[in-house]
Amino acid sequence: MHGIYDPTRSTTSARLALVLRHATAETHQAVERLPLMARLTSPSVTREDYLDYLHALADVYAALEDSLLDALDEEIRNDLGIRPKLPAILDDLAEQGQAHMPRASAQLAPSGSGAALGGLYVLEGATLGGRVIAKHLRRCLGPALGSAAFLDFHGEHSSAAWKRFASILDSLPAHGRMDPAEVVSGACETFALVHRLLEGAATERACAQTVPEGAGRRDSGVGHLANTVPPIPED
Ligand code: HEM
Repeated sequence: MHGIYDPTRSTTSARLALVLRHATAETHQAVERLPLMARLTSPSVTREDYLDYLHALADVYAALEDSLLDALDEEIRNDLGIRPKLPAILDDLAEQGQAHMPRASAQLAPSGSGAALGGLYVLEGATLGGRVIAKHLRRCLGPALGSAAFLDFHGEHSSAAWKRFASILDSLPAHGRMDPAEVVSGACETFALVHRLLEGAATERACAQTVPEGAGRRDSGVGHLANTVPPIPED
């Protein structure tokens, strides 16, 4: 676990958005290392890899997004102004001529308003890194990438949208509207679920593919994108 996050300490004294980033950093890195994700950030990424990613993310958001939004207090949901992301993923798939067949999922989103807020931090944050991935894919795939409506969800307003989201997150515990410990554990639980779902998607793909004897997988994960961009400013 990372320095700033001490589960035994009250999180009210620290900025919640920052605490969340540190508490989930390890799982975020584990997600980036998954074969599905490593292929996406590889210089030899293909359109197929992008489609696999979209299908996997559609399963993640279908399994979690609605229940997390439903569990959030309405007032907080309005303050945060979160727009669901699943429609953008499905639009991207449709643009690529792909229908999405949802995978049955027994994964349950954490319940309770605080935990749901933590879960939504995870889903919202994916679009922050998404912008970086979109730039990489645009370079590698060119026009075949299409609109990338999910990855580039907030477009050039990405940074502003995230700052707004993070500042609302930070303000909630101070106003007694949220137990920060619940938010942090909801985020950790959700990120672990996301990891499991994406890992499962990668395994399914591996089973579905017939890999010829001796044929190695092309290089994957040549440098993790998150390590090539400057760190997010912490203030
Ligand atoms: C190949 C896969 C991924 C890469 C390369 C990646 C990369 C990144 C990068 C570069 C950032 C920082 C962006 C910036 O500062 O502008 C970021 C932030 C974030 N990503 Fe990812 N990401 C990946 C997958 C995911 C997934 C699948 C999720 C969750 C569903 C996720 C959740 C987050 C969150 C919550 C943040 C915000 C961290 C914070 O500042 O608090 N990421 N990601």
